[in-house]
Amino acid sequence: MSPQHEQRPLSLQGKTAIVTGASRGIGAVIALDLASRGADVCLTYVSDKSGEAVTKLAARIRSLPHRPVAQVCQADLSTLDGPQRVVDKFLKSDGSKERPLHILVNNAGVERVKSLAECTVEDYDAVYNLNVRGVILMTQAVLPYLQPAGRIINISSVGARAGFANLSLYCSSKAALEGLTRCWAAELGHNGTTVNAINVGPVQSDMLNNIPKEIVQRQKETTPVENRLGTAEEVARLVAWLAGDESGWISGQAISASGGWAMY
Ligand SMILES: NC(=O)c1ccc[n+]([C@@H]2O[C@H](COP(=O)([O-])OP(=O)(O)OC[C@H]3O[C@@H](n4cnc5c(N)ncnc54)[C@H](OP(=O)(O)O)[C@@H]3O)[C@@H](O)[C@H]2O)c1
Repeated sequence: MSPQHEQRPLSLQGKTAIVTGASRGIGAVIALDLASRGADVCLTYVSDKSGEAVTKLAARIRSLPHRPVAQVCQADLSTLDGPQRVVDKFLKSDGSKERPLHILVNNAGVERVKSLAECTVEDYDAVYNLNVRGVILMTQAVLPYLQPAGRIINISSVGARAGFANLSLYCSSKAALEGLTRCWAAELGHNGTTVNAINVGPVQSDMLNNIPKEIVQRQKETTPVENRLGTAEEVARLVAWLAGDESGWISGQAISASGGWAMY
C-alpha cells in the first residue's frame, strides 16, 4: 500500500462503501484505495486475530488528508444474521438517521483444497455459505440503502471459468457468483445501478499460500503480461473504476483481471 494513495483526486467523495473481508489481502487494499479517492468505508472482517490489523488500517484511512470515515465491523458473513449485522452497525450506526450506501464490494471469500472424494458437507457449507449465500444475504441487506446509480462489485476468480483439480467447491462457488452478477445486473439496472464481477487471477495473499504451488507456477508461466502474479493494487484500481461514474454503461460483466491469463 503505497503513499501515492494519499494524493489521489477525490473522485469518490460523498460516496459510502462497504468492503467485505477488508482486514487483509485484496480487500484491505480495495478499502484503502476507495477511501483514498474520497469514499467513506466500512471494513468488515471475521476473526479476532485480524482485529488489530483492521483497526490499524481504519486509523490509517481516517488520517488521510480528507479525513474519510472508516468503521470496522466484525461479522461472520457465512451466518444467516452476519450481513444484517454489518448493515445495522454501519448504515444505522448513528441511531435513527440512516446512512445511504453507494458501493458494495463483495470481497470476502474462502477456498477448500480437496479432491471430490474428500469433500464433505462441512466443506461445502464453509465455501458456499460465504462465497454464495453470504453474498446474496449481504446484497439483499444493503438494498434498502443502495442509492440510484449504485455499484455492486463481486470479487470472483478466473477459477469461475477454469478447471482446477481439487478446487471444485471454490471454482463452482465463483461460477455461481458470476451467475448472480448477471441476474442482478438485469434486475437492478433500472435506476442506473450496475453489477459486475472481477475474475481475479493469482495475487499474493494468505489465500494464495494455500493453493497448490504447481497450479500457481503454471498460471505464472502462462500469464501473457510479464509471466507474473497480479497485485492487490491492480485489482483495487479496477474496483475503483467500476465504483466510479465513468463505468456507468458497464454492467453484468465478469472482467478478467489476470494479465491476460483468462481471455473472455
Ligand atoms: N488471492 C488470490 O490469488 C485470489 C484469486 C482469485 C480470487 N480471489 C478472491 O479475492 C477475494 C479476497 O481474497 P484474498 O486472497 O485477499 O483472501 P484472504 O487474504 O484469505 O482474505 C480473506 C478475507 O475474507 C475475510 N473472511 C474470511 N471468512 C469470512 C467470513 N466467514 N465472514 C466474513 N469475512 C470473512 C477475512 O477476514 P479475517 O481476516 O477476519 O479472517 C479476510 O479479510 C476472495 O473472494 C477470493 O476468492 C483471490
